Amino acid sequence: MSSYDVIVIGSGPGGYVAAIRCAQLGLKTACVEGRETLGGTCLNVGCIPSKALLHASHMLHEAEHNFAEMGLKGKSPSVDWKQMQAYKQSTIDTNTKGIEFLFKKNKIDWLKGWGSIPEAGKVKVGDDVYDAKNIIIATGSEPAALPGVEVDEKVVVTSTGALELGKVPKKMVVIGAGVIGLELGSVYSRLGSEVTVVEFLDVITPGMDPEVQKTFQRMLKKQGLEFIMGAAVQKTESTKSKAKVHYKLRKDDSEHVLDADVVLVATGRKPFHDGVGLEALGVQLTKRGQIAVDAHWQTAAKGIYAIGDVIEGPMLAHKAEDEGMAVAEVIAGKHGHVNYGVIPGVIYTHPEVANVGETEETLKAAGRAYKVGKFSFMGNARAKANFAGDGFVKILVDKETDRILGAHIIGPSAGDLIHEVCVAMEFGASAQDLAMTCHAHPTYSEAVREAALACGDGAIHM
Ligand code: FAD
Ligand code: NAI
Repeated sequence: MSSYDVIVIGSGPGGYVAAIRCAQLGLKTACVEGRETLGGTCLNVGCIPSKALLHASHMLHEAEHNFAEMGLKGKSPSVDWKQMQAYKQSTIDTNTKGIEFLFKKNKIDWLKGWGSIPEAGKVKVGDDVYDAKNIIIATGSEPAALPGVEVDEKVVVTSTGALELGKVPKKMVVIGAGVIGLELGSVYSRLGSEVTVVEFLDVITPGMDPEVQKTFQRMLKKQGLEFIMGAAVQKTESTKSKAKVHYKLRKDDSEHVLDADVVLVATGRKPFHDGVGLEALGVQLTKRGQIAVDAHWQTAAKGIYAIGDVIEGPMLAHKAEDEGMAVAEVIAGKHGHVNYGVIPGVIYTHPEVANVGETEETLKAAGRAYKVGKFSFMGNARAKANFAGDGFVKILVDKETDRILGAHIIGPSAGDLIHEVCVAMEFGASAQDLAMTCHAHPTYSEAVREAALACGDGAIHM
């Protein structure tokens, strides 16, 4: 079979979801993947392995800190790093094999190898050239390089190396207090590393609600992470087993050096489209190197589409998936749509941090009148029982109409709770709609309802 309705290049959450939806819509579909397993960054070296390590290390933290108070006594578990890595790998394997199963079920051909587009309507994989009426580029992203910092994936590592270190380091320096730095920094801190996070800005997780940023940093400090803020990393020097991180404090230009066993560079990712052959096709790039697409994810070259991390927007698996489904529908002649105003973001630390929609800053900048409803998890019975009272839910609504514009949650299961607000926003609901919905007791979701009540006449338990 050398002719397809659709060939997708890349099998990450964008590519594999696009391929499945195309096949479900009756299009003859193939997906090209150069890795040995399907699932892209997310399943192989991103979302899934990091969450496995976050889960395991959180269990250790619970055992060390909360078990005794609940009357669970005895020796705390110790870390068997080899076994933890095996657990992580089995989680990856189950998920990547799951995609292989879904490809077979949906009769999608996996074209193994690195794909390029020699001309519109053709995809080359190795020596084979296939005809494709439509091509979807879903080639994802890679870690951005930092000048003066040479990554060897052993001592100076990106997230990929950090997920498979030979041992738990004694001292880890994390460059960048963004999502990767704080998730993986948390993992190693819980496993016993001394973790110092060096951040260029004066706040962690830029772009997030400032109250959440402050609360989050305070909680992470309490857990043992150290922060050096307003610090520009100049360079790293490394030997086979140690590294030095040179940085300058922005406020006074003073120069400092940190010693580390491992340095994690987590200063952002950039779109990846090397070797696809975009230049000759006339595909345009944005200033940031992303593939430019129109409202239907079509590039400047007709019949060639792009989705996921390789185009503009948040680099998130679920954003890539939504685009994957939508572009398949567009290609099949339907009405694919993504609501970019309602894409949640979650940081899977403990507690979790989640957000959707507008922040107070974006509303102020747009000159919009808004109200805030806030509720602390200290007023939530379930959270108190589970040592999870630190944190809050904050809902932002339009001052006139009470329509929900955004939400920011730091606290237990924030990554799940946020979806209640997402659904409400999709339906154009008001805070009162949420507040009038009966919520089971005792659940963490009651805190969301209470924040919605706080947008009106007031929360009950505060
Ligand atoms: P990718 O997942 O990057 O997949 C692209 C695929 O294309 C790759 O497998 C690559 O091998 C393949 N490819 C590239 N070029 C070619 C070619 N020429 N031929 C054939 N194949 C090719 N997001 C979340 O939403 N939640 C999380 O918890 C989360 N955690 C993360 C943790 C880490 C450590 C990292 C690094 C990222 C995390 N992300 C998370 C981000 C998420 O992984 C990405 O947003 C997502 O994977 C993007 O999907 P994609 O399909 O666009 O690209
Ligand atoms: P990021 O953009 O989240 O954070 C990078 C941080 O590094 C920022 O705080 C930035 O100010 C800082 N920084 C930049 N240059 C610096 C320098 N020279 N010195 C010190 N600090 C510097 O990027 P990150 O953490 O690498 O993650 C990349 C992407 O992966 C994110 O955009 C995110 O979308 C995705 N991701 C998502 C996850 C999730 O959804 N839970 C988990 C992990 C990654």
